[in-house]
Amino acid sequence: MVDQSSQNEDLMQDSNLNEHHHSSEDSFQSLIEENLGAEPAEKVNQDVGAGRGVYISTYGCQMNVNDSERMYSLLEMQNFVPVQTPEEADLILVNSCSIREKAVHKVYSEVGTFRKLKDKKPDLKIGVGGCVGQQEKENLIKTQPMIDFVFGTDQIDNLPQLVAQIYTDKTKRISAKFEHRAPYHVETLVRNPGVATFVNIAKGCDNFCTFCVVPYTRGREKSRPLQHILADVRTLIQRGVKEVTLLGQNVNSYKDSGIDFADLMAAVATETDIERIRFTTSHPKDFNQKLADTMALHNTKIMEYVHLPCQSGSSRVLDRMNRNYTREHYLEKIAMLKKSIPNLVLSTDIIVGFPGETEEDFMETVNLVHEVGFETIFAFKYSPRPFTKAAKFEDQIDEAVKTERLNRLFDSHDAMAFEMVKSYEGQILKILVEKADREFGKVQGRSTSNKLVHFLGSPDLIGKTVDVKITKAFPAVFRGELVQ
Ligand code: 5AD
Ligand code: SF4
Repeated sequence: MVDQSSQNEDLMQDSNLNEHHHSSEDSFQSLIEENLGAEPAEKVNQDVGAGRGVYISTYGCQMNVNDSERMYSLLEMQNFVPVQTPEEADLILVNSCSIREKAVHKVYSEVGTFRKLKDKKPDLKIGVGGCVGQQEKENLIKTQPMIDFVFGTDQIDNLPQLVAQIYTDKTKRISAKFEHRAPYHVETLVRNPGVATFVNIAKGCDNFCTFCVVPYTRGREKSRPLQHILADVRTLIQRGVKEVTLLGQNVNSYKDSGIDFADLMAAVATETDIERIRFTTSHPKDFNQKLADTMALHNTKIMEYVHLPCQSGSSRVLDRMNRNYTREHYLEKIAMLKKSIPNLVLSTDIIVGFPGETEEDFMETVNLVHEVGFETIFAFKYSPRPFTKAAKFEDQIDEAVKTERLNRLFDSHDAMAFEMVKSYEGQILKILVEKADREFGKVQGRSTSNKLVHFLGSPDLIGKTVDVKITKAFPAVFRGELVQ
């Protein structure tokens, strides 16, 4: 997953790691739990929205961002009108994230602020979807009386039907079953795809890393058929898209009747006119030579950037995380990748303070970061999650120790990253221009290795790939000038 939280997010986190404890004493008469079934959206009265305003608040990873686009698109078909603020809305949806406890807190606190809006506008309907909805189900409605309905991660396509029911019978509802048997056959629904966009290729996860809630909130792993993905990419190209990022919790375990992820990437590269292909997130255990060879073979289209979460540099910790690789295996994969793709740029996810992590284990992680030379790291303090094995491990680490290790890891990485990116200064990079900057007269785009670059240029450049000379390089962002 691409986690959108900033690298320093956890630094600001307070030290409350307790899970939510919901009082389930409230007697709740009108609660109906049911699976709404897979009735197609078209069957719903097309005017459920009747011009009502809908606002969706989105947390977490790119999968959620895509899901929110899907929700907006489905609701627009029902004549809802997207609005910019919760105050203007008649329907508010919270698309929530539960990857770490802090993300859950954010959702609860935002939902809390909607109580006042509901006092002012009694007809306002509030629904919570996404991973917290999936995880908490009826607890959410029982403890947060302002919520009208909860819908799970597999129920997005039933949203029009669910909302129609909410408006007609005024009963609180929960729709959070996994559609285990239903194939993953959906087309990409995105309102304004822009120049670079995301295409879901798989969802769910079967890996059960002991720290991770995703297998419980996103369900079993499912892949979309290759032909559906190709059709989506072709449609997006017609809408002006130049770059797609193939998206899944675990893209490289993609499987569609004998076709694996490397085959899929080769097909997108050769059977569509897309200019750039990226992917996220891949798992080290499934990153094989065939995939590296495919990236090398199609290197004009498949970008030379890989996000490969290591989570820890200690084999002992990796084993307790159930990651299915050792430090040595991870380093072998990196060596293989660097050999196949000489200009490869790497980033990773890291968890510090996993239960039982010693100072030695932690230092192995710090050393791994330097040995690999990640340009970017996304590091987090371990946060115990419901249903997961590691939450029950007895050797939990003190919050203060986690914070201190996270700070030390970022400091150590920052020093290296500043040095690494300096070498970009003076280089000419190929930048796909994505949009105009907020700063007047400037545009922004990304290099092949995924660096964000700002430079002076006309909005006419949007959608074009241009040469830009880098004048100043910081770890997260570059400045440059157009080479005429
Ligand atoms: N605590 C802290 N970080 C976590 N991640 C996943 N689960 C947890 C957890 N319980 C991190 C992993 C993953 C990224 C998306 O979030 O590093 O790769
Ligand atoms: Fe979570 Fe591990 Fe699956 Fe990634 S591979 S979503 S970290 S369980």
